[in-house]
Amino acid sequence: MPFPLPRAPRPRPSASAARKPVRSSRGKRLVCTLAAVVTAASGLLAVGAAPPALAAGSTLDQLAEAQGRYFGSATDNPELTDTPYTTVLGSEFGMITPGNSMKWDTTEPQQGQFDFSGGDKIVDFAQAHNQRVRGHTLVWHSQLPGWMSSLPAGQVQAAMESHITKEASHYKGKIYAWDVVNEPFNDDGTFRADPFYNAMGEKYIADALRTAHAADPDAKLYINDYNIEGTGAKADAMYRLASDLKSQGVPLDGIGFQGHLAIQYGFPTNMRQNLQRFADLGLDVAITELDVRMQLPSDATKLATQADYYRQVTNACLAVSRCAGITVWDFDDKYSWVPSTFSGQGAACLYDENLQPKPAYTAVRDSLAPGVSDTTPPSAPTGLAVSGATDTSVSLTWSASTDNVGVSGYDVYRAGTKVSSTTSTSFTDTGLAASTAYTYTVKAKDAAGNVSAASAAVTATTQSGGGTGTGAFKVQYKNNDSAPGDNQIKPGIQIVNTGTAPLDLSKVTLRYYFTGEGGASTYSTWVDYAALGAANVTQKVVAMSTPKAGADHYLEVGFTTGAGSLAAGKSTGDIQTRLNKTDWSNFDESDDYSRGTNTAYADTTKVTAYVSGTLVTGTEP
Ligand code: G3I
Repeated sequence: MPFPLPRAPRPRPSASAARKPVRSSRGKRLVCTLAAVVTAASGLLAVGAAPPALAAGSTLDQLAEAQGRYFGSATDNPELTDTPYTTVLGSEFGMITPGNSMKWDTTEPQQGQFDFSGGDKIVDFAQAHNQRVRGHTLVWHSQLPGWMSSLPAGQVQAAMESHITKEASHYKGKIYAWDVVNEPFNDDGTFRADPFYNAMGEKYIADALRTAHAADPDAKLYINDYNIEGTGAKADAMYRLASDLKSQGVPLDGIGFQGHLAIQYGFPTNMRQNLQRFADLGLDVAITELDVRMQLPSDATKLATQADYYRQVTNACLAVSRCAGITVWDFDDKYSWVPSTFSGQGAACLYDENLQPKPAYTAVRDSLAPGVSDTTPPSAPTGLAVSGATDTSVSLTWSASTDNVGVSGYDVYRAGTKVSSTTSTSFTDTGLAASTAYTYTVKAKDAAGNVSAASAAVTATTQSGGGTGTGAFKVQYKNNDSAPGDNQIKPGIQIVNTGTAPLDLSKVTLRYYFTGEGGASTYSTWVDYAALGAANVTQKVVAMSTPKAGADHYLEVGFTTGAGSLAAGKSTGDIQTRLNKTDWSNFDESDDYSRGTNTAYADTTKVTAYVSGTLVTGTEP
């Protein structure tokens, strides 16, 4: 047969132009810019009228067409009697692929006897619903009739050319694209040893493409395979084949990437780049049989991963200008081929078995038209809590929200005013005033701009200055002196940080109140032990200008900067102080204000505490 020259590429409208498919005189849909021709339910819009805004109710195909792509589904003849199913099939999708009824075993069950009735019914359905058809498939190792599989090698080429010519001619003008050759490769990139390769070697592929082109010159001609979505040996083999065919002028228009994915095997490596390198050969690319299976039973986590895979595939197609569109290998789990082929796996489609859209459906819509389709807000953040506060800042944490598509970030509000947007689940608000209460809420948002309800509010009080606490610590005391009438006083003191922020000990002082009685008015002080280091503890005795009952002096305990910060929840540990008058005269401790008789540490309010000189805890005499 004569081999035609390669065809000039058909002009493609720019990807940015809004488009709507219209029928050609042959019933095949073309794509025109909306500014030129617009058909609408209400009639013709004026040339130059603004395109209608995509509404939330737009179909998958309408959203895809607005991006210069189609969105299609496989179907099969038995399913066409399922009215709820066909209602979705006929409205949501713009491209239909017969799942079985154009295959060789159906269309030429006996050599030379053709039956196109099944395929015709699907073409009729598509045309009745203003949909295009991908023809699937002319040459494939599987679903071959018995006579073909056992044909002597010398008769294979003629039988193949006859089959292609008969079928492609029958559907001439009704097919947008043919999967002329399906699955020619093994996974290692070698050619599959099927009847065609065995009889003709790899030249069967060029021969099949030329034969199909002769029968239907307007149909786009594809080679289609699985496991070529990401880079790898099989994709490389397809790339070499496509390059060779293009350089030989063989009528090859596109490569079909089936897209039978599984969440347990990971997302294909560098899918966008892989599609792009085929496009760079001057070929269309298309996702032709997309589904994403999982181990059953499904759960929310698996469905979210599946949604992410569908989204990534859609994003990859949208990122490659020569990606013509996406077809799912049926759209609902009820009719998926997966469970009967992969035991224990399924739930691979956009809709569940009850025809309810799954998260994957929303993810695809969101990828095709961010913000148009997803109207479901994330859940409100929970567990908002103050994780720390200084004199100038408040730190917050919260639990992640969930969303039908995905949470894109959080907005943090202080007293109802947004102070930050973040993608994490924590935030530190800075530049605040000391000793001030601030109330916060957090809202989650998604990529479509849906915003959740506010979290429960939380209030945080900044510290008093210098980065130390305002009463967010307590003082504990024990009496280390069993003789109240001797010449020494021995308070044991420790501080416990009960707040949520570190406590800068160098700004903290404590007062232990006592009466000096007679004798010397000068004192010596000692630190017999301090868990944080005796050298980090300072002491002095101060005479009160206004003596009170049980108190005419106090021992002031302080800390050097070497004492550092006391972390939230931590104690300084035991600090054993001691004082005496320089003449070693006796005290009468029994009436001393701060004295207790407990010999184990216990909370006290009578040893007062100060931050930068301001009383923060305890009661002065
Ligand atoms: O039609 C008979 C029916 O009469 C019989 O009762 C029934 C019993 O099992 O079988 C029916 O045939 C089945 C046919 O689908 C129609 O439903 C076959 O057993 C079954 O093997 C066949 O599976 C098809 C498969 O290709 C064959 O490889 C799937 O439906 C079809 O979705 C699937 O599609 C392929 C693509 O063509 C190429 N890429 C991979 C993709 C998934 O395998």
